[in-house]
Amino acid sequence: GPRMTVPRFQGAKARGEKLAMATAYDFLMARAFDESGVDSVLVGDSLGMVVQGRSSTLPVTIDQMIYHGEIVARACQRALVIVDLPFMSYQVNGDQAVANAGRILKETGAAAVKLEGGALQAETIRRIADSDIPVMAHVGLRPQAMHKLGGLGRIQRNADVILADAKAAEEAGAFGIVLELIPSEIAELVTKSLRIPTIGIGAGPHCDGQVLVGPDLLGITPGFSPRFLKRFAEIDSQIRSAARAYVQEVHAGQFPGPEHTHS
Ligand code: KIV
Ligand code: NA
Repeated sequence: GPRMTVPRFQGAKARGEKLAMATAYDFLMARAFDESGVDSVLVGDSLGMVVQGRSSTLPVTIDQMIYHGEIVARACQRALVIVDLPFMSYQVNGDQAVANAGRILKETGAAAVKLEGGALQAETIRRIADSDIPVMAHVGLRPQAMHKLGGLGRIQRNADVILADAKAAEEAGAFGIVLELIPSEIAELVTKSLRIPTIGIGAGPHCDGQVLVGPDLLGITPGFSPRFLKRFAEIDSQIRSAARAYVQEVHAGQFPGPEHTHS
């Protein structure tokens, strides 16, 4: 199909077409998602947890996001590539936010950025959008606010706050918005109240699209089993049984066999 652009992504809502988004951080997975029809590939700052093995997203740097963003953007022929602005790359002031969002577009080839926040980031969203950089917002559970919220797995239930954040982001010029870990009823209300598409994770079926962390949906993150996650494969067990078989055959002198050998 044709390239997913920001206007097409936004238009999906009016057309009643659901959007499928997944995160990726490297070339092979991004290309596999792109060629499988994933509408948008997000280079999430979840990088810190699923790629770097850290316990939060807070240490991730703008240079790390740009390194992975360039690789993923190069792998995607069709999907809309969005790169997260990491913690403290946009909160200090609007000038720094615009400069870092600009670096992402200039140095990666991605088409858009994402930041966490609604009402409190409205001015920053407006500055970035006014610089012709498409920006997605992210409300509900905000992993970059884990120390303020008291953890990463807490369902956000304040409908007034979530709706006000979502409306502020739309009003400020966000082209879409992630709703993370909120009750289905609130996600439905927000989705009906906005013109821009809502992309849910742990937010139920009424959103305009869904996003999952790529390694989670593939089953490469075995310890992580929240209610919202569906594993569409069990790749971690396949990796482990392949690795065990390889080790066993090398140790037993069975690999390489004659069919793998040049004489
Ligand atoms: O960093 C990330 O992977 C995200 C998605 C879960 C929305 O922000
Ligand atoms: Na993120």
